[in-house]
Amino acid sequence: MVALAFLCGILLVLPIGGADMPVVISLMNSYAGLASAATGFAIGNNVLIIAGALDGASGFILSIVMSKAMNRSFGNVLFGAFGSVVEGASAKTAEGLTVREISAEDAAVQLAYARLVIVVPGYGLAVAQAQHAVRELADLIEKRGGEVKYAIHPVAGRMPGHMNVLLAEANVPYDRLVEMDEINGQFPQADVALVIGANDVVNPAARNDPASPIYGMPILNVDQAQKIIVMKRSMNPGFAGIENELFYNEKTSMLFGDAKQSLVRLVTEVKSL
Ligand code: TAP
Repeated sequence: MVALAFLCGILLVLPIGGADMPVVISLMNSYAGLASAATGFAIGNNVLIIAGALDGASGFILSIVMSKAMNRSFGNVLFGAFGSVVEGASAKTAEGLTVREISAEDAAVQLAYARLVIVVPGYGLAVAQAQHAVRELADLIEKRGGEVKYAIHPVAGRMPGHMNVLLAEANVPYDRLVEMDEINGQFPQADVALVIGANDVVNPAARNDPASPIYGMPILNVDQAQKIIVMKRSMNPGFAGIENELFYNEKTSMLFGDAKQSLVRLVTEVKSL
């Protein structure tokens, strides 16, 4: 039984894409709850039955909510190996398109004189551990009279609430964090949308490319801002492994480099203005 359980566990987890692990972990939490409930029945312990059932149900609900927010079926998460580049998965390629690069000095000028800046944090912000640097930059912009808001996508990062936890760590006031549905109407008023290490959650293909694997996923309407600055290290794709047409938008400028280092440079430049 033990050997069979090991084999079953390994075979169940093996086909799942690495970054889908948060869903798997909550699903396994749910299985553990069900196992405790079953043990409760076997030894006649009511506390185990009730606690196990609650754990089992909550883990399962969380797994479904996470899959739903990524616009993917449960089956696709468990067996889909998402993120592996599939030939012809998306109809759009970057062929013939060019990206516009921006220097830290020019980006700092845009940010310093903006009235409303919407920061869009993503997985790259977490990787770079740049939450304190972004807070410092926001403080500087606010001191100069601008307003800074943070657009929070429900599946930005790699676990539920990833961005909320990260920004709370840097003491970003909670009322500056705005949920996707609420902030989406405010992008047209934003002078600058500052995308920090986010990719899939701002990909317009989710809205207008039916061939895209993320088609139908709700996204942040960053492309409606007056100007867009995207901070990432390269033109590499994000979790879904697909091209992002936002980077080729005529309003978009790319500030290449590690998010933390770029933010530190921006802070220095804004200070010197
Ligand atoms: P992603 O689409 O994964 O994009 C992250 C971007 O960050 C990459 O394009 C990467 O580009 C950049 N990056 C990485 N390290 C960086 C660094 N040190 N400095 C600057 N940039 C860096 O992230 P997202 O937009 O947050 O989307 C999240 C994705 O994860 C979604 O597809 C979502 O469905 C999926 N997902 C989410 C969850 C939950 S619950 N949040 C669970 C499982 C999966 P470079 O390599 O060019 O720098």
